[in-house]
Amino acid sequence: MTLLAIETSCDETSVAVVRDGQVLSNVVSSQMQMHAEYGGVVPELAAREHLRNLLPMARSALETARFEIRQMDAVAATQGPGLPSALMAGFQAGQALAYALRKPFVGIHHHEAHLYSPWITGNPPAAEFADFQPSVSLIVSGGHTMLVHVESELHHRALGSTLDDAAGECFDKVGKLIGLSYPAGPEIDRLAEGGNPKAFLFPRPLIAAMNDDFSFSGLKTSVRYFLRDHPGILDDPQSIRDLCASVQAAIVEVLISKTIRAASRMGVRCVTASGGVTCNRALRRALAGACQRQQITLRLASPGLCTDNAGMIGVLAEWKLLRGQPATDLEADVLPNWTLA
Ligand code: KG4
Ligand code: ZN
Repeated sequence: MTLLAIETSCDETSVAVVRDGQVLSNVVSSQMQMHAEYGGVVPELAAREHLRNLLPMARSALETARFEIRQMDAVAATQGPGLPSALMAGFQAGQALAYALRKPFVGIHHHEAHLYSPWITGNPPAAEFADFQPSVSLIVSGGHTMLVHVESELHHRALGSTLDDAAGECFDKVGKLIGLSYPAGPEIDRLAEGGNPKAFLFPRPLIAAMNDDFSFSGLKTSVRYFLRDHPGILDDPQSIRDLCASVQAAIVEVLISKTIRAASRMGVRCVTASGGVTCNRALRRALAGACQRQQITLRLASPGLCTDNAGMIGVLAEWKLLRGQPATDLEADVLPNWTLA
């Protein structure tokens, strides 16, 4: 089965062609620079850019995959959650395309696509997937931080999520306080490699709480107070690196400790991680170490599939169609507040 997939839930426009569980092309156009000027995503600008980008990107995705649009067996698009106007741009384009092609249309839950993205291996994902279930999955990005228990194929249950800021949002907001441009996660990751993670002690919010929820807004506030109490610290490049490493260590420790605890409590032997923050090198290393100590198999989304992309949308849509799940109505609307059950 060959599908064209579209992702426009936030500030990345992406179009992919997937076939038999493989991502043949995955074109991503980031609007980061445009939004950086405003220090965050401006929804109306995002929607306008998606509309401008979608057609040329669809052409380019098809060209790279060496397919013609009429060869598509289905069309998929992100239905939610996300910014309403941004979602609408890609979702309605997908519906119109499916209507014109007279092929099924599948609306996909953005977090569910992240959830299964570690299983995109180039093989049909279900091949290996079954051997590793049940599992516990950490989805960690700019808009979401959650733990999910996957019982079996397409059967999962959210265990907990962030009560306020997502981990990626915390990276971005701390970066803004330090004077880094948006999104600051990748730059903090880079600076932290040359810093001492024990230089400054920051709180590990909810680390001891007996639940699977997260909270990162207090950590951001404590960095603000730290900067107020240490005037001039940003004039010293090494102190900036130490600060980045110390904040990153706090975020990573909370994520790892809660993920491993959930995995032990649920008695699973496999942990997966996905979403933009899963690009973070310290997080990848720490998760690998913790899982090895617990003799848990770790499955990380590949860096190219961690940040928002249409490849993960297409692979999940194909999986659903092959498992007999119904197509989405062409009259259906976007679901900006859709929660993962
Ligand atoms: O999954 P994603 O592309 O978008 C959402 O669905 O939110 O994730 C974007 C987030 C941003 O907050 C960005 O700062 C963060 O992922 N991020 C990172 C790294 N790469 C991206 N955070 C920490 N370290 C990184 N290397
Ligand atoms: Zn995402």
